[in-house]
Amino acid sequence: MTAPLRSTDPITVNVALGDRAYDIVIGRGLLASLGTRIAALRPGAAALIVSDENVARHHLASAQAALRNANVRAGEIVFAAGEQAKSWRTFETICEGILAARIERSDLVIAFGGGVVGDLAGFAAAVSRRGLDYVQVPTTLLAQVDSSVGGKTAINSRHGKNLVGAFHQPILVVADTALLDTLPAREFRAGYAELVKYGLLGDAAFFAWLEVNWRDLFAGGPAREHAIAVCCRAKAAIVARDEREIGDRALLNLGHTFGHAFEAACDFSERLLHGEAIALGMALAFEFSARRGLLPMTEADRVIRHLAAVGLPTHLKDIAGGVPGIDALMDLIAQDKKVKRGKLTFILARGIGAAFIAPEIDAAEVESFLAEKLGQ
Ligand SMILES: NC(=O)c1ccc[n+]([C@@H]2O[C@H](COP(=O)([O-])OP(=O)(O)OC[C@H]3O[C@@H](n4cnc5c(N)ncnc54)[C@H](O)[C@@H]3O)[C@@H](O)[C@H]2O)c1
Ligand SMILES: [Zn+2]
Repeated sequence: MTAPLRSTDPITVNVALGDRAYDIVIGRGLLASLGTRIAALRPGAAALIVSDENVARHHLASAQAALRNANVRAGEIVFAAGEQAKSWRTFETICEGILAARIERSDLVIAFGGGVVGDLAGFAAAVSRRGLDYVQVPTTLLAQVDSSVGGKTAINSRHGKNLVGAFHQPILVVADTALLDTLPAREFRAGYAELVKYGLLGDAAFFAWLEVNWRDLFAGGPAREHAIAVCCRAKAAIVARDEREIGDRALLNLGHTFGHAFEAACDFSERLLHGEAIALGMALAFEFSARRGLLPMTEADRVIRHLAAVGLPTHLKDIAGGVPGIDALMDLIAQDKKVKRGKLTFILARGIGAAFIAPEIDAAEVESFLAEKLGQ
């Protein structure tokens, strides 16, 4: 799997969902073409840009200029950054903002930011005026390979994360890889865990390629666009097969059952970013798979070695401030929506690139594995 030399041509990946199919375009500097792309897709449409303060500070002026140059009239709503924005309150502000800006059924919403902005703006578009079109312009690595593709939108409830939302596909995703140059290094690294996930779950050659090329990807070389395109192709194929996660879309949850429990244990705070939790969760999922004899321990060690090489956490002791005891951790795992009648659904692996859905894992087995890990 060789990365192409830098080319000025964007890479296009189609998400094949019949009359709701859409393109993901990936390339450096693509933001400048946002207006012409929107004008071509929806001639005469007005737009409302939804963004957070960090993204707006760095990039909103460029986005507005790109729209202006193509005569796309666009208002903006900017809110404070962070996961706590995925609230009823911010959601209401965005919905009311959409109406105040007189965005009609023939107009559209532009989600300009990371996963938080994408989830909020996408959900607001799903319900405002009973459904508006929206365009995703993801600005984090996580959003470019994961949250902007596939149409899951949500806000958080006091009962848990992402519990109120809708499936609502965007009409276009524009992933400008240059926007990632301003992303804090820790956020970039956390997003990288989701790229590794695609290799681990179904593409051993991509994982091997990442082991060799990750430095170029981090540095903003041509490996970046190539890797993002590989991930988007993988996600697009899964979403086209299983839009509503009835079947193998659940493979995308590799590392997430463990990971969500650690995130919750840290109160979804800066102590542990989502991608960091997923790195740790994937390391444990591979180790757990090896314990069950599904793959050699050397294979799990290879996964752990790569995650650690880029600076992602792979051991429970890597979590700043520590984690609660085994009972609290098991409670958090049990609260996860993937639990049915005392049995846990896990994504396990028969090797790198060979993940599968294991629906009947005994909670007791997970408990003794985690208890041992806590002791190390
Ligand atoms: N819908 C889905 O399928 C899906 C999938 C995965 C995750 N998610 C959701 O995504 C969210 C996490 O997304 P995220 O990791 O992108 O977090 P985020 O949106 O909070 O962004 C991380 C931080 O980076 C800042 N930022 C974003 N782009 C920047 C840029 N270009 N330059 C400088 N700073 C920038 C943001 O302001 C924020 O402080 C979670 O809420 C998660 O539930 C959704
Ligand atoms: Zn994730």
